[in-house]
Amino acid sequence: MAAPATESTQRLFFALWPDGGVRDRLDAAAAVVGRDSGRRVARDNLHLTLIFPGQTPAGRRDCLIRAAAAICCPAFELRLDRFGHFRRARIAWLGPAEPPPALLELHRRLNAALADCGGEPETRPFAPHVTLARKAVRCRAPADFAPIDWAVRDFCLVESPGDGSGYRVLATWPLTAAADGVS
Ligand code: 2AM
Repeated sequence: MAAPATESTQRLFFALWPDGGVRDRLDAAAAVVGRDSGRRVARDNLHLTLIFPGQTPAGRRDCLIRAAAAICCPAFELRLDRFGHFRRARIAWLGPAEPPPALLELHRRLNAALADCGGEPETRPFAPHVTLARKAVRCRAPADFAPIDWAVRDFCLVESPGDGSGYRVLATWPLTAAADGVS
């Protein structure tokens, strides 16, 4: 449901936020991919979106924060080894050829939380990816690329002010649950 125009809202999304080492590797890939086509994403903005609630009124934001804090999901290893291009969105990306079940479960739970909080859940299949370049007409993998192994230990809620100031991480939650069949 769209928020009334009179209410103050924030543009929010849940994401995996890379640490310095993974961010360096992603930035190096973005440099090569963005040199070939499009405009590379700035180093500090590289991330993997889990769920995009979009414009969110304060009440729903607080509900999402409570729901995220209650999520019990295991940490997981994420191998980024597949380059791709979304033609309509014009983005060049890097993602996992085989998304781990724990990532899919985290996405599922956040989407359920969004619905429970009165938002519009995502109905399209989840295509986990890190956007490397925008306005790209293709995505050519760097010649010397080796897969990026990302030890994912937490997830976060991020604000995208949309004024060119970059993203702002509002809260981070650890992934701590025992694997329990999800890995
Ligand atoms: P992208 O990486 O595929 O561009 C902040 O805008 C983040 O949320 C970006 O990573 C973007 O994904 C994602 N995003 C923006 N609009 C979205 C939408 N309508 N649905 C899903 N994700 C979206």
